[in-house]
Amino acid sequence: MQNDKRPESMARITTLELANAFIDEQVADIRKQVGDKKVLLALSGGVDSSVVAALLIKAVGKQLVCVHVNHGLMRKGESEQVIEVFGKELDANLVYVDATDRFLDLLKGEADPEKKRKIIGNEFIKVFDEEASKLEGISFLAQGTIYPDIIESHGVKAHHNVGGLPEDMQFELVEPVRLLYKDEVRVVGEALGLPHNMVYRQPFPGPGLGVRCLGAITRDRLNALREADAILREEFDNSGLAGKVWQYFISVPDMKSVGVRDNKRYEGWPAIIRAVNTSDAMTATIEEIPYALLHKITARITSEVEGINRVLYDLTPKPTGTIEWE
Ligand code: XMP
Repeated sequence: MQNDKRPESMARITTLELANAFIDEQVADIRKQVGDKKVLLALSGGVDSSVVAALLIKAVGKQLVCVHVNHGLMRKGESEQVIEVFGKELDANLVYVDATDRFLDLLKGEADPEKKRKIIGNEFIKVFDEEASKLEGISFLAQGTIYPDIIESHGVKAHHNVGGLPEDMQFELVEPVRLLYKDEVRVVGEALGLPHNMVYRQPFPGPGLGVRCLGAITRDRLNALREADAILREEFDNSGLAGKVWQYFISVPDMKSVGVRDNKRYEGWPAIIRAVNTSDAMTATIEEIPYALLHKITARITSEVEGINRVLYDLTPKPTGTIEWE
């Protein structure tokens, strides 16, 4: 039975030294728990599951099987990074499933946000379940549960509905970072040698770009959103805002306006910028992005992204606006 209460004596992991001590302790514990059996992990590429994967690879190597389900709603380059870091650099036992068509076909024509979330969540479980049943001799399921998931009922993951796994899976759990806070998970991730941009990744909703491609998702609008979002992230990286702003992204609504491009009438979607600061995602304030940067982002998105002809900046704090648009 795992201990689910953080001992009061446990020091906050803030240094490489403390992180290495934690890693050594966990590696020993994992080896003791797992023995020579196999462990399965749903690896999204988010901070928590990535750190758990790296810990398990260190402890039991190829006895860990990572399954990465690409639901087609990832940000630009994310699935590629999972393959690069875990499949190649760390030489993990990685099963990569490109389920894009399955998800997008099921989502076709569905405009209701809650139904979209359900479709994505259910399909995720189905795909993961199918992959798990193809594997033999799995005894353990590893999860990136962190301490706030245990102590808070209203945290960011309260409405986590992707990455939730089938309840009837008969596996014993391995949850090596369950007593850690997010900042500690990051320090441990860096100590394990994971790339900085993976360890300091901003939070990303389980349903991914699915809740940012507003209304009924189409492939062309989803692609436009992904490209515009990549430009926003690049400009935030270059200007130093990336390390300062809690969450920033683009949403693209299902509406077009009239515009001009190359001296011709050009109907396109607007890209809406959201950049917020918060500590717990329950309330949020707006980051004041410098105007010069807003102009640059606007110029790049409207000239580089097919289908986008305007860029808008959402100035609404939470409340009244939620962080996501749907
Ligand atoms: P809202 O939009 O409710 O978002 O202000 C608060 C935080 O939660 C994230 N979010 C989600 N995360 N599944 C998730 O895993 C979801 O369905 C979901 N919806 C919102 C959001 O990105 C923000 O960080």
